[in-house]
Formats: sequence, structure tokens, C-alpha cells
Amino acid sequence: MNYPFWNVPNVGSGWVIGMIAIFHVMISHFAVGGGFYLPLAERKALSGGRGQWCETLRGHAKFFLVLTGVFGAVSGVGIWFSIGLAHPEATSTLIHNFVFGWAIEWVFFMVELTTAAVYYYTWGRIDSKLHLKVGWVYAAASFLTLVIINGILTFMLTPGDTWLSVAGTGQEASKFWEAFFNPTYWPGLFLRIAVCVSLAGIWALVTTSRIDGEAFPKLKTDMVRWSAKWLIPSFLAMPLLLGWYLWAVPESQRALLTLGISTIGSGTFSQVTRAALVIVMTSATILGVVYFLAWRSPVDFSFSHALAVLALAVMATASGEYSREMLRKPYVIGRHMYSNGVRVKSVPQLNAQGFLPNARWIRADVSPEYAKGEAMFAGQCMSCHTIDGYRSMRRLLAGRNRAAIGNFLTMLHDYKPDSPYRRFMPPLSGSPDEIRLLGDYLDHIVSPTAPAPTGKAVASLH
Ligand code: HEC
Repeated sequence: MNYPFWNVPNVGSGWVIGMIAIFHVMISHFAVGGGFYLPLAERKALSGGRGQWCETLRGHAKFFLVLTGVFGAVSGVGIWFSIGLAHPEATSTLIHNFVFGWAIEWVFFMVELTTAAVYYYTWGRIDSKLHLKVGWVYAAASFLTLVIINGILTFMLTPGDTWLSVAGTGQEASKFWEAFFNPTYWPGLFLRIAVCVSLAGIWALVTTSRIDGEAFPKLKTDMVRWSAKWLIPSFLAMPLLLGWYLWAVPESQRALLTLGISTIGSGTFSQVTRAALVIVMTSATILGVVYFLAWRSPVDFSFSHALAVLALAVMATASGEYSREMLRKPYVIGRHMYSNGVRVKSVPQLNAQGFLPNARWIRADVSPEYAKGEAMFAGQCMSCHTIDGYRSMRRLLAGRNRAAIGNFLTMLHDYKPDSPYRRFMPPLSGSPDEIRLLGDYLDHIVSPTAPAPTGKAVASLH
């Protein structure tokens, strides 16, 4: 409410964050897992006199440096840009709470980037024991970035009762540790460690698949198999860790998973279920491909096989992150702030005074009235819906006339405790007049015969 609204037509702002985040997760988790892969592989190479391993590992280290140092870093900044635009209110809350945590994370990140460069450029130039030590410093630094960022990510889903009891009092930062070590901190951390280890193996398969199998059959066999082994622990532990994680998520959020299909036809239940199915199927396929192609005939394991495994891993990651986002709905910060930036505590005030007068980026003199409806949509619905694309209003409201739309909005405003919509949509806040204008606006969207809105009410960024 204190910031402009970011309109991303068709795709929706959430997906902008999503697309950058999926890319970033693939790389940043590899940075952590690969941080352990490289020194462990180097140690093995050194202890067993496997000179040829070193050449391949050096190539892998270069790939690693470019991927994490360039693409990982750039996509990380991309996340800041996109969350700052899509969820300025929540980003501000996170910064106010965790500024110290982030400052430390950036220190570790600096160490991580520096040691990654030193590790690659000193390969073969300094004493191998010292080189290995540089690798371990890298591993520790990158692991610590995960330890910190996990506290902030899990906080958004489960801030915990202690932090919530001071939320909005200005004393939030005094509960830093309680917020940081929140209820899903540990399962979240172990789950991500498992993902890091498997991604290290998957990216290593990309490098090792390029070893010439005809010229170096033994080298390729050893290295492909050794990399494939990195997938075993996570696949064994993943179901247990997922169970632990879900167990730590409050019942109200978990309910989304169990919400009956009957309540919302093509709705949320099937979306989460579909995502869960994709995770299970892609993971099983990865396991199959890695076992049959990489483990059983490593010499023939090709670059395109490795890319196929990588593509499956992207799908699994995307579905995992999507489910995590869905679990958090309708909040951006659990039980504290809705996805549209409205604080749970300010709903009564918005209902009494109106939403628009409290939204600073909406012109006070907005006219005509239709533009107010558009502003209501931008302020309260656009963080999850678009007009024509993702979760499109035209599609979801198709076939409803003005009265039906009005009933829906009233239901969204009054919210009975047992309404299934509560699990994923925030209450609609605002005065009766504002709700009527939102209805008119939506009616125009659905039925083009309704009078067209003119004028621009929202100082939105296009
Ligand atoms: C926190 C995200 C979020 C916000 C904010 C949000 N919605 Fe939704 N909405 C959803 C989700 C998720 C669904 C289910 C989507 C689906 O079935 O494809 C949904 C479904 C709907 C549906 C279809 C429901 C049905 O039973 O047919 C309508 C209509 C709708 N939303 C309107 C709105 C309006 C109007 C607003 C703003 C006042 C709004 N939503 C705000 C997440 C949100």
C-alpha cells in the first residue's frame, strides 16, 4: 500500500520472480553442493594418484566459476530487483528484520566468490595441499550462505509465534533469533542440503559426460559413477525430509494440500497435487536415467543425456519451489502479511476507512470511478492474478454476470471461517463503495459490453 504496483501483463509479477528464482536455485544450490564436490573429488584424485581426474576437475572448476560467479550472482541480484518490485512491502519487512543476517551473508558471499576464483586460477600453481584448503574455505563459505538465507526463506512461511507477537510494534528485530530459527528452519535446511548434494552430482555429470569415452574409458567410468553416487543420499533422504518439513508447516497452510477437489473444480488442490506429482515423476525419471545410462554404461553416457537429466532437475526444482509458494498462500509472510502487501492487522482499518485513501500511490482525485475499480484490482488482486494470462480474471470469472461477481466479492470480503478460499486468497478489504467499483471493473473485463473504463488511476510501473 505504500508502494507503486507492478503490472506484468499476462505473466504476472509472481512468475517473474519464479522464473528468476528457479534459475537461481539451480545454480546457487549447485554452488553449495559443488563446493563440497570439488575438494572431495580433488582429495580423491590426489590420494589415489589419479592424475587424469585433475584435468577434468579443473575444467569443472572453470565451469563452476563461470556458472556461479556470473549467472548465480546476476540471478541473485535479479531476485532482489523482482521481489523489490513485486513485493516491496514484504521486502521492506524482511530487510528491517534481517539486515544483519544479510550483511553477514554478503560477507560469506564475497569470500565464496573470491575463493572460487583463487581455487580455479591457482590450480597446478600452488602446493596441492594448500589448493585443497582453498577449496574447503570455499565450501564452508558457500555452505554458510545457505545457512543464513534458509533462515529468511523459512521465516516467510513460518515466522513463528514469538515474532508474530511483536510484529507491527517496531520491536520485530529484537526477536531476530526466534524469527531466524523458526519452526521450518531445520527441516528446510536439511531439505536444501539434500538438493545441493544432488545438484552437485547432476552438474558434475554434465562435465564428466564430455570426457572422451573411447580414448579414456576408465577415467570416464570412474568419474561418471563417482558423480552419479552424489544422487543417492538425497534420493533416500528426500521423502523423509519432505515429511519432516510438511509436519513443521502449520495445519492451516498444509490444508491446501488436502483441500477437496470438489470445492474448487480446477482449483488449487489439483495445482499443488500436480506439482507434487511432477516432483515425484521427474525424480524417479532422473533416478532411472542416471542408473541405466550413467551407472550401467558410463562410457556411453553422453552430453545430451546429461542435459536431459539437467532439464528434469529444472522441472523438479520448479515444481518444488512452486509448491512451497502455494503452501504459503495467501500470505507473503505467514499470518502477518498477505501476498498483496496488506498486513493482516490492518484489514479492519481498511474496511472502515477504505483501501484507496490508504494506498499512497493512488491519486486522490482519481476519476472516473472505473479507474478506482482498476486501482482496487491492482492493489489487491494483481499480485496473484492477471487479466488475460496466468490465473486470468477473464477465464476465472467467465460466465458470471455483474450480480454473480458482486456475490463473489462480498463473499471474499466477509469471509466465513470455513470458506475454502481463505486458504489461498486474502480477504478483500475496503469500503462497500470501493468493492462495488471493483465489481464494475471486473464486470467490464468479463463482459466487453459493459462500459469501458477510461483514465489511469494507478501510478504503476510498466
Ligand atoms: C494470494 C494470491 C491471491 C490473491 C491476492 C487473490 N487471489 Fe484469487 N485466486 C488465487 C488462487 C490461487 C486461485 C485459484 C486459481 C485457480 O483455480 O486457477 C484464485 C481463484 C480466484 C477466482 C476463481 C474462484 C472460483 O471459485 O471460480 C476468482 C474469481 C478470484 N480468484 C478473484 C480474485 C479477486 C477479485 C482478487 C482481489 C480482490 C483475488 N482473487 C486475489 C489467489 C489469489
